Amino acid sequence: MKCSSLGIGLAGLGTVGSGVVLALERNADLISDRTGGTIRLEVAKVLVRDPAKTRPVSLPAEKLVTDWRELVADPAVDIVVELIGGTTDAFEIVSAALQARKPVVTGNKALLAERGVELFALSKQYDTPIHFEAAVAGGIPIIRTVQESFIGNRIHSMCGIINGTSNYILERMTTGGLEFSAALAEAQALGYAEADPALDVNGWDAAHKAILLATLAYGFPIDTAAVHVAGIEQVRPIDIEFATRLGYVVKLLAVVREHPDGAVELRVQPSFVAKSHILASVNGVFNAVAVHGDAAGESLFYGRGAGQDPTASSVVADLVEAARSLRHATGHRGFLPYRESGTLLPVEDTETACYVRFDVTDRPGVIAEVARALADAGIGISGTHSPVKPDQPDAAFIDMVFLLHTCRFGLLQETLKTIEALDCINSTPVVFRIEKL
Ligand code: NAP
Ligand code: HSE
Repeated sequence: MKCSSLGIGLAGLGTVGSGVVLALERNADLISDRTGGTIRLEVAKVLVRDPAKTRPVSLPAEKLVTDWRELVADPAVDIVVELIGGTTDAFEIVSAALQARKPVVTGNKALLAERGVELFALSKQYDTPIHFEAAVAGGIPIIRTVQESFIGNRIHSMCGIINGTSNYILERMTTGGLEFSAALAEAQALGYAEADPALDVNGWDAAHKAILLATLAYGFPIDTAAVHVAGIEQVRPIDIEFATRLGYVVKLLAVVREHPDGAVELRVQPSFVAKSHILASVNGVFNAVAVHGDAAGESLFYGRGAGQDPTASSVVADLVEAARSLRHATGHRGFLPYRESGTLLPVEDTETACYVRFDVTDRPGVIAEVARALADAGIGISGTHSPVKPDQPDAAFIDMVFLLHTCRFGLLQETLKTIEALDCINSTPVVFRIEKL
């Protein structure tokens, strides 16, 4: 087959967009060779906000545009790559590209988790694919794994670390002794964080990714409002210290699990993971997803979850697939709902052991008061501790932590409301799961 160039319309020339240009420059010949000389990808047009900005890649000025309509409509653009982020302009770009029957490649998990139902309906209507490998776990090919490699498996669970920024921050706080804000600034400088880093630290970036994985595995659209999400912004050095002392590490875990009645448990929370567990050694920007299929059993997928080159690697793989789909129609891809609706397990009905930190006013009987409320609710205590600062043995406010036996999360939430109302409690208790994986 003869090789003719396919034109890419690249929306976004930030961390990932620049990485894609660099990767294509570096490996254009390799890609052509590996596709039997049939595919050559050329950047035809690039959308930016500010054409005057200094960038790590140089492109002829006439290729830069600031109006996305110009990019999508350009006849030299065969495939549209959306790497601007957000859910507004990005939605317009992807919709317009599909309507123009131009395959789309995107790394935008927020867009697909929030507005994927509309976009995949358009993809189906116009028989034009949306590829989104880069949307989950950066350079790890987890979307292909779930969509293709595990297509013959009933997926029991997918648990793991799927936000590089928070994992990087937790590690820097644990081993580098950094404050939260200093660790976040490093993650931003390294190009790991979202344009709005709140999404990284409040757990929603991981939740968007977990929603995409669950949607693919269980075949029904998931309402983001029904997902229980907590982020690492509540993690303090004292929690890391306690975790270390007790033989755990703190990780932001995404848990997706199908229960025997078909209900899907889907939650993202800071969790204590036993130091001996393989996920405890996933550090820095690395991600890992443990997938349990009924046929394949346990598999672990590990790699860089964010950053320029790893993410560009996934985008380029999707570009080649998109190019192949233009040569040999593969039609609609992505999320193919095969169940109109499914059930998410209410978070209140999920069960784990927990670590709870209380900010208490120290006075005689305070431990007994909290322990009594827990006992009245039938929640067992496996340990309790309050640190004493050697230089302030009489400090009036202290952190007190309880380790609790496995209980229903809803029961714990109700009991914590009762405890929070006690005079000796100064703020809302902080809960981390102790996850048995
Ligand atoms: P980024 O560095 O902030 O780059 C965004 C780019 O989009 C910039 O070039 C910006 O233009 C352009 N842009 C933004 N809004 C625009 C608009 N309304 N019109 C025109 N251009 C606009 O972001 P990024 O880190 O590359 O991330 C891009 C996407 O990839 C996001 O959806 C993100 O979630 C996803 N992703 C990122 C990573 C990662 O490690 N960074 C990994 C996986 C997925 P200017 O340069 O002119 O400002
Ligand atoms: N901000 C995201 C992260 C980028 O840190 O994981 C990769 O999706």
